[in-house]
Amino acid sequence: MTIRTAVLPVAGLGTRFLPITKSLPKEMLPVVDAPLIQYVVEEAWSAGMEQVVLVSSRGKAILEDHFDTSPELESALEAKGAEALLATLRELTPAGVGRIASVRQSAPLGLGHAVLCARAVVGNEPFAVLLPDDLIWTEESTPTVLRQMVDAFQHKGSSLVAVMEVDPSQTDKYGVIDPVDREIKPGERLIQTQGLVEKPEPAQAPSNLAVIGRYILTPDVFDLLENGKRGAGGEIQLTDAICALLPSQSVYGYRFEGTRFDCGDKVGYQMANLALSLHRPEMRERLLPFLQEQLAHWGGVGGG
Ligand code: UTP
Repeated sequence: MTIRTAVLPVAGLGTRFLPITKSLPKEMLPVVDAPLIQYVVEEAWSAGMEQVVLVSSRGKAILEDHFDTSPELESALEAKGAEALLATLRELTPAGVGRIASVRQSAPLGLGHAVLCARAVVGNEPFAVLLPDDLIWTEESTPTVLRQMVDAFQHKGSSLVAVMEVDPSQTDKYGVIDPVDREIKPGERLIQTQGLVEKPEPAQAPSNLAVIGRYILTPDVFDLLENGKRGAGGEIQLTDAICALLPSQSVYGYRFEGTRFDCGDKVGYQMANLALSLHRPEMRERLLPFLQEQLAHWGGVGGG
């Protein structure tokens, strides 16, 4: 079955990035020269999505504006003959790709609630969820992570959550899957799952396979979100609803190919900026000597 819709929850408060997120949505923070939201929207188009649904909130219209046409700016660039910049702008709203819709989440009642807000636009079909915080970089020769997952879904027809191995001491920072078979073979991509555990202590963690912000879900998850119990602060957790899918369908962890940066965290965000800048030869040339200087100054890793 084709997956046509990608849901992008962007209604969170972004408190870890205050004060900038007081007036600028976290999803507009730039990595090199594009906002976080642009990376996931492009990933959605690369996976053949026909529509992207932003689950937004008050004060975040700038996210929709970013993908709107800008006739004045385009005419100014045309007049200056700035063809390359013009092409970059036009790529934001390429003709022939899908449309961007938006719905509102009236209060930040959790990721599960944000996904539920998109129900009417998604309809009764499988859909993707992408969290803009998780920037996943893939080599040009490698399909994007959502593309990889859409292909895996065609094969399995069951819900998928992206997972990656994390250091076992870090499991209390993630949702972690409980694999049916605890012997994970090297190179195995699809891991059948019998449960998901939120932030387990390392000693209690059923695996070190952490859930990352890419999902393909079947529409029965909406009823489970609607009827599931509320957690602290009335929050509706996506993880709980995915667990509740398990008696009626298989759920797989998908070990993706790509490098993930946690851009919801200040250090992860800086790492993304550095790594993606270093991929651009013209930036690398000036950055590397600077980084070497910094390393010498700070005395290498752990120095100071
Ligand atoms: P996070 O919990 O990482 O984002 O949610 P946050 O709450 O905005 O950030 P902090 O922790 O306060 O710094 C992951 C994604 O889910 C969205 C967020 O916008 C982010 O893209 N989200 C979260 C919603 O859309 N609604 C919610 O109620 C919660």
